[in-house]
Amino acid sequence: MSPAPKILVFDSGLGGLTVFAKILEARAHADLVYCADDAGFPYGPLGEAELVARVMGVMEGLIEAHAPDMVVIACNTASTLVLPHLRARWPATPFVGTVPAIKPAAERSRSRMISVLATPGTVARDYTHGLIASFADHCEVTLVGSKNLARLAESFMHGAVVADADIACEIAPCFKENPTTGARTDAIVLACTHYPLLLELFERLAPWPVAWIDPAPAIARRADQLLTATFGADAPRQGAPERRAVFTSGRPPEPALAAALARFGLAPPPCPSPASRERGP
Ligand code: DGL
Repeated sequence: MSPAPKILVFDSGLGGLTVFAKILEARAHADLVYCADDAGFPYGPLGEAELVARVMGVMEGLIEAHAPDMVVIACNTASTLVLPHLRARWPATPFVGTVPAIKPAAERSRSRMISVLATPGTVARDYTHGLIASFADHCEVTLVGSKNLARLAESFMHGAVVADADIACEIAPCFKENPTTGARTDAIVLACTHYPLLLELFERLAPWPVAWIDPAPAIARRADQLLTATFGADAPRQGAPERRAVFTSGRPPEPALAAALARFGLAPPPCPSPASRERGP
């Protein structure tokens, strides 16, 4: 029986759970640690140097504490900037990133009008503009950097009621219509891992139906492919697999969040001892 891999899934908050869920489906027998850098949330408005320093610092503690066989950066805002730094610092660790799914959206669109709904950081990145130039130069691409959606998704996961009007207002700029031809946006990239948490609301509040493109299944397939090359296919192993949620704030989740984590197969983290709080993640 070959050893089961340990996968660390990382995001600024709870959005990476949308990727975690697909990884769990693909690798049900792997050890999985989910880390939310809630002490650093939100990443969207951070300057680039500040974000690189933040992610590198947190990852230092996580890799030392958990020794993962693979790290999945389940965050577009971080992946579009920090991946080269992470790969240079830990060359032996495979890092799988999450970047805006512009290629599949452009392939799927009939109207050739697509939108990219992301954080302000992701829409500003050279990396994102490079993806548009490489894969969507035949499309009209609308970039929408939402200041509030990631926070609204966090509140939703913490059990708060999110107002329809707030969501409608954030997604409205994604919907474009050409007054001459009548062509309309028909594909929207969910380019922040928090946004699929709100997908039911997006679908209900959209002015017209569109394809919402979530990269999570493709990321899980990529992670599984890489792991299969080293560890073989996912297979039963001895003992129960590890499922752990880590919050950099050290705050224990309140009941609504604990219930949400349980829906993703994650038990709430144990209350940290004062010593482990001092050591960090
Ligand atoms: N979930 C993150 C992403 O995919 C960003 C949320 C934030 O921290 O602003 O971009």
